[in-house]
Amino acid sequence: MRIGIVGAGGMGNTHANKYRQIPDVEIAISDIDTERAAAFAERHGASDFRSLSEMILWADVVDICLPTDLHLGVALESISAGRAVLVEKPMASTVAECATMIEAAERAGTPLMPAQVLRFFPEFAAGKRLVEGGTIGRPAAARTRRGGKAPAGAGGWFLDPTRSGGILLDLGIHDFDWLRWTLGEVETVYARSVRIRPDWAPSFQAPAAGDYALTTLGFASGCVAHVETTWMEPGPSRVTFEVCGSEGMIEYDSRNAPSVRTATADSVKTEAPLAPDDDPYYLQLRGFLDAVKAGSPPPVSSLDGLKAVAIARAAIESAESGRVVRPAQG
Ligand SMILES: NC(=O)c1ccc[n+]([C@@H]2O[C@H](COP(=O)([O-])OP(=O)(O)OC[C@H]3O[C@@H](n4cnc5c(N)ncnc54)[C@H](O)[C@@H]3O)[C@@H](O)[C@H]2O)c1
Repeated sequence: MRIGIVGAGGMGNTHANKYRQIPDVEIAISDIDTERAAAFAERHGASDFRSLSEMILWADVVDICLPTDLHLGVALESISAGRAVLVEKPMASTVAECATMIEAAERAGTPLMPAQVLRFFPEFAAGKRLVEGGTIGRPAAARTRRGGKAPAGAGGWFLDPTRSGGILLDLGIHDFDWLRWTLGEVETVYARSVRIRPDWAPSFQAPAAGDYALTTLGFASGCVAHVETTWMEPGPSRVTFEVCGSEGMIEYDSRNAPSVRTATADSVKTEAPLAPDDDPYYLQLRGFLDAVKAGSPPPVSSLDGLKAVAIARAAIESAESGRVVRPAQG
């Protein structure tokens, strides 16, 4: 299978490392920064296409690892050439852009998957499995926390909210998607955020999502969740989740090993579901390629990508307006 990766930055390299572990895969790169592309090609044994359009024609699958505001254009060109498309999270900048992408893929009959990689992290997959299996009874309240240093990205695009969407779209989207996957549809969103770093792009209007945000989600099921996201942690990134139900509680903290802890009235059990071949990025890419080969639906649907963006956009609107917002349905 020929994979054309667009964007030789952080995620392009992560994906290339995983594709190299999959048999019968050939990779190519296209990046506006030709030096970066050449170094990538050398590092991964990839073909280096100066023309994006030529790479799209060469590829079976186009893997979009570009700044978020550039996802839509490349996805539409790839879809119109009949290529299967994997697009990094967030799928696109707005719900309308996601809908345009989905409509184009449906019309062309090409597979389209948003890379919501959290679903492939063994701890998060275990969390969903335990909730659905009834281990903690009826789920009621959840809490997630995700934090680290603010990323910059090529040319500092992460710190321009018109490009990255800021912390709620770029980082919060992971947990919004996982919580919706685990607890069902989100009905209401309320968010507060602060901006403190001096180096945000001038286009950034306070109090839109900046360095820290706290979001409360209300679910159709009656569950409530709060999602804490921060780019103010100097140390290595830390991720936690907690789901409480009528019969117990599941906890995960990336600082602990073994990491998933389930407590009920009768027992406390800890387990580390991470096996060496459980790498989430590998599982995600492998899952998508297997689906493309088999002609079966991708493991994460394009509608899931849209709904995650809708929750993040509702959170941004809430942080800006101070009101409770209902996510758009697409
Ligand atoms: N799943 C995850 O865990 C995760 C982590 C980080 C980033 N991401 C997402 O991945 C995407 C890429 O992020 P990143 O960290 O790799 O960014 P990055 O800044 O490291 O890399 C982006 C690359 O795109 C190239 N580029 C920019 N404009 C281009 C254009 N017009 N044509 C071709 N190439 C161009 C840049 O030169 C750079 O090499 C974003 O959507 C981001 O939100 C996902």
